[in-house]
Amino acid sequence: MKTIFAHRGVSSLAPENTLSAIKLCVDYQVRWFECDIDILQDDTIVLSHDSTLDRCTNRSGTLFELNRQDLERIDAGSWFSDEYRGEPIPTLEQLIALMNQYQLNANIEIKSGDVSAEVCRRLLAGLDCALNQLDDGREYIISSFNPMLLAEFKRLRPQARVACLFENHTLNDDWYVIMEWTGAEYIHPQNEGLTQQQVQRFKSKGYQVNVWTVNAKDRANQLFNWGVDGIFTDFPQNFLSKYQED
Ligand code: G3P
Ligand code: MG
Repeated sequence: MKTIFAHRGVSSLAPENTLSAIKLCVDYQVRWFECDIDILQDDTIVLSHDSTLDRCTNRSGTLFELNRQDLERIDAGSWFSDEYRGEPIPTLEQLIALMNQYQLNANIEIKSGDVSAEVCRRLLAGLDCALNQLDDGREYIISSFNPMLLAEFKRLRPQARVACLFENHTLNDDWYVIMEWTGAEYIHPQNEGLTQQQVQRFKSKGYQVNVWTVNAKDRANQLFNWGVDGIFTDFPQNFLSKYQED
């Protein structure tokens, strides 16, 4: 079975990392989505790719300056289109409730922004606590570009499946050391420049391989023929459900 992950939700049709973008997975029968999480000053965990508000909201400044009560005054939708005006930045708690309601599975990527190690520890503890609210049968993968966060999370929650994210230029000889050290079951390499030989190396070590971000069908087919297990895409609506049934 191949997995199609809706990258930041169905982010080609709705503003990324919002509940609307994730709810669209239900319409397109996409069972897995990817989202990014970060932490506010009062330890509220929210969905956001960036550590600043500038790109995806009507505000500027850093995410970490905010508290929970600030969220209702922030519009994370109109940058995308008028249709989504007033769309809020979701909390992790709201995300977990949505997953339970619609039986969705998640790849939750931990972004650590510009926060201190102590704040990162609070983020990991909050994530661990939130995951306890998932219904039986819901699945999740925790990923990060930061192996230290993953290793620490694995210590906190040994039953969690974790994934190391790699940009192409960081996929050098020590990728395997990082995988071993974190206890990761999944490797999530960047699409651009990824070769069949690299995929074979990952598979020969027994890892599941999910590639980001793949929007072209031809490339997706090529990767699946090489043995890749899943892709993250902004256009899950373009990928036939056959990938999910194989
Ligand atoms: O998790 C895959 C992908 O989301 C990693 O890159 O920058 O889109 O979070 P980015
Ligand atoms: Mg991400």
